[in-house]
Amino acid sequence: MTQNKRILSGIQPTGNLHLGNYFGAINNFVLLQKEYECFFMLANMHAITVKYEPQILEDNILETTAALVASGIDPKNNTIFVQSSVSAHAELAWIFNCTARIGWLNRMTQFKEKAGSNKEKASVGLLTYPILMAADILLYRATHVPVGEDQKQHLELCRDIAIKFNNDFKANDFFVTPEPIIPENISRVMSLRDGTKKMSKSEESDLSRINLTDDADLILKKIQKGKTDSEAISESILKSNTRPEARNLINIFSALTGKKMQDVITNWNGKAFSEFKKELGLLLIEKICPIGKEIIKLKSDPVFLKQILKDGSKKAQEVANTNLMEIKKIVGLV
Ligand code: AMP
Ligand code: TRP
Repeated sequence: MTQNKRILSGIQPTGNLHLGNYFGAINNFVLLQKEYECFFMLANMHAITVKYEPQILEDNILETTAALVASGIDPKNNTIFVQSSVSAHAELAWIFNCTARIGWLNRMTQFKEKAGSNKEKASVGLLTYPILMAADILLYRATHVPVGEDQKQHLELCRDIAIKFNNDFKANDFFVTPEPIIPENISRVMSLRDGTKKMSKSEESDLSRINLTDDADLILKKIQKGKTDSEAISESILKSNTRPEARNLINIFSALTGKKMQDVITNWNGKAFSEFKKELGLLLIEKICPIGKEIIKLKSDPVFLKQILKDGSKKAQEVANTNLMEIKKIVGLV
């Protein structure tokens, strides 16, 4: 392992993980764990910025832990922990509340999307959410952050906070500015019902996403019912943005096979989507079902999962508390 290459990333424990989480984040975690020291965090404090059920939030912690391990993250060599079990996150977020500028937050597109038409009624936490995210990352002085495309703007804000903090306190290079690691081939998986919206846990229709725990029949059904247009597969899918659903299916196929989108289109040129969807369904079953089965198996052993989080929390606290102490000295809070 290369020293001082450290990863921190987070996932909200708000429901079933889906194909977007898998290709946008988890698959990258699995690949990167060999090269980096990794901290994977269940962002339950981010999850309470919108309406939620306390009991469901708690239940989902073990579900999400199981999903990370089932996908291939080795809990012995990586730190998997729950955000709220390390109080330093909230403390540093407060310090960064005083570093970040209101104007920076007002530009965040995720806030605009999640707050919808009635911004005044959104929680303050939803607005300051990216500040907590910056605290998550900088508390561990992470050098790299693997995330899906939707989190890129938050990462930029985190970098701005690091730079401003270093300048304000004349703390040259105290925080390194972390680099995002965004998957090249599939950074954004879209909803199966609407190719202009990202696949999401919060979308009402379960048909819009492939969950990691879906069984083979359900995967086939969702792909078959997935929206497409009446045209056959052709180059036009890549050339314009007029066929978003078609593009999404080709993109998923490309991620599953490791082939370029252009090559997938060349191979399937002129064919109907009905045929393509059969093959796509089979590929998805091959990839997702073994993970889903492992999630179910792991969930039947909560003692094992809780131990992972307990060990993770201890390791995370050690690093976080040491760094927080230094930060508090710099800002004059000791
Ligand atoms: P969340 O479930 O919102 O906490 O997201 C956890 C991780 O999955 C983050 O790195 C996101 O960027 C990524 N992610 C979530 N939805 C998608 C999607 N539809 N496509 C690609 N990545 C996603
Ligand atoms: N905001 C991220 C999401 O919803 C989750 C998250 C919280 C995160 N803290 C983080 C991701 C720190 C990367 C680094 O997807």
